[in-house]
Amino acid sequence: MNLKDLYINFFIEKGHKQIPSAPVVPENDPSVLFNTAGMQPLIPYLMGEHHPYGTRLCDYQKCIRTNDLDNIGDTYHHTFFEMLGNWSLGDYFKDEAIEWSFEFLTQVLNIPKERLAVTVFAGNDTIPFDNVAHDKWLSLGIPEERIARTRDDNFWIAGETGPCGPDTEMFYWRSDDELPSKFDPEDDRWVEIWNDVFMQYVKKEDGTVEELPNKNVDTGMGVERTTAILEGKKDNYESSIWAPIISLIESISNLPYKGNEVSMRIIADHLRTSVFISADPAGIKPSNTDQGYILRRLIRRTIRHAKKLNIDINSNWEEQIAKKIIDMYKKYYKELAENEKVVLEVLSNEKAKFNRTLEKGLREFSKMTNKLTGNVIDKDLAFRLYDTYGFPIELTEELAHDANLVVDIEGFKEKFKAHQELSRTASAGKFKGGLAGNSEIETKYHTATHLLNAALKIVVGPDVHQKGSNITDERMRFDFSCDHKLSDEEKHQAEEIVNNWIKEGLEVRVEEMSKEEAIASGAECMFIEKYPDIVTVYTIGDGISKELCGGPHVKNTNELGRFIIKKEEASSAGVRRIKAILEDNNE
Ligand code: ALA
Repeated sequence: MNLKDLYINFFIEKGHKQIPSAPVVPENDPSVLFNTAGMQPLIPYLMGEHHPYGTRLCDYQKCIRTNDLDNIGDTYHHTFFEMLGNWSLGDYFKDEAIEWSFEFLTQVLNIPKERLAVTVFAGNDTIPFDNVAHDKWLSLGIPEERIARTRDDNFWIAGETGPCGPDTEMFYWRSDDELPSKFDPEDDRWVEIWNDVFMQYVKKEDGTVEELPNKNVDTGMGVERTTAILEGKKDNYESSIWAPIISLIESISNLPYKGNEVSMRIIADHLRTSVFISADPAGIKPSNTDQGYILRRLIRRTIRHAKKLNIDINSNWEEQIAKKIIDMYKKYYKELAENEKVVLEVLSNEKAKFNRTLEKGLREFSKMTNKLTGNVIDKDLAFRLYDTYGFPIELTEELAHDANLVVDIEGFKEKFKAHQELSRTASAGKFKGGLAGNSEIETKYHTATHLLNAALKIVVGPDVHQKGSNITDERMRFDFSCDHKLSDEEKHQAEEIVNNWIKEGLEVRVEEMSKEEAIASGAECMFIEKYPDIVTVYTIGDGISKELCGGPHVKNTNELGRFIIKKEEASSAGVRRIKAILEDNNE
């Protein structure tokens, strides 16, 4: 039996219900592109919401981490990976969590106790040393010198804010060297395999930490790493998870893994991630923004490395590998088989697109770089390669490296951000006629979201902030922070205020300014770090609403028609969602 089945069976026996893996693209959290941990889809429940499956849950979750794309190619980083987890939502706590972790490792996986070591939370100014976890490990027979106490590494949180708590991490001695009696977490022959987080706190935006209504347990074990360890492999790509894919790449390229490890790992890793992204119910396609851009980069980098291995790019190499991946995983993720056709189309369309510009781009690259006086590819050149020839920045960097040149990455990133913001607003339907040919009605809805945001601040309170929005030409959806269901009275008031502003015929003004100026002027914005240095700020009336925004908007609120709230519902913990429409006045 493989690790996933062993894990799920074990926790089902301990009274847990298995929940399905959530999509890789979070459904209610616009602040991250992909789920990066098993707990992410469970945040509302860790915060106290009732879970329909009860208080003991377990699963394997599709996760994607793109922050260390540059590390792909080494022996143990993967863009896509599976995380095993078991959760207690206010049910069991430290004793059972640790006991079961220990039982699973030593009784089910048969890891000798001598090869295990753990860390526990040492305590800080506000949260004390975790003596419960410490004593529990001792009672299970982990000796004192194998229990390290650390501070920063033993407090877990997914990002900056949200549910969090002290944790205890389990390590395995992966080396053939003699086992040391004392555990040193800095010694990388000890590899972390599992993390039990005791989530009893929530970190607020102002940095303070409060108790959650429940004492929860959140655990995470990486499937790839643990499988490699159990099979005695030091290179994850030699484990049974990757071996069939690597050996297919060997046969397609007619080259051995040895000596070609980096390119083969990149192809295996990036294609596996691309398969999972394009099979996901979110329906992501390669594009120049957000998840779509990640997908595009992954596919294009795969192609580059296939070329390095002299694979005939025009053959169906990518299809063969994708089919293998689908075959290996479809038992666990049914969307892979269901969406196989879509996946193969995404890959071959993107390959064709890239191929069309790649040769031209490579010629342009040599032409441009031959003309360079220094050894720096400046931001404009890097951006042109990206924008006109579809070169992901890594490709430009790789080519530059081969030609002994360096790229102004920071400059590129700035330009790229400004461009992304523009495309994001365009793809959200916010450019009238222009860029993406979006409709007039979408522009109206866009202005209506600003008015609704301002109205809610009056009705509910100044702490209301936008958490997301989505506009089609039929309706607008607006997510905002709020800790309660709006009463009919509140909905009615918000509607009235917006309609009064519409009737008043308020002017909508746009100005350009630096990000700092915009913030100092009190302009509202959702994710400040996602904006370029120079931003546009839209002001409605005499400061009724002021927001950083790519636009476009109507010129005057009297263009909007009648604003009607259709629905108000929960979106995620602490976030409510309003669906509203605009009707022509004469309807
Ligand atoms: N959420 C914890 C982690 O990802 C378990 O390590």
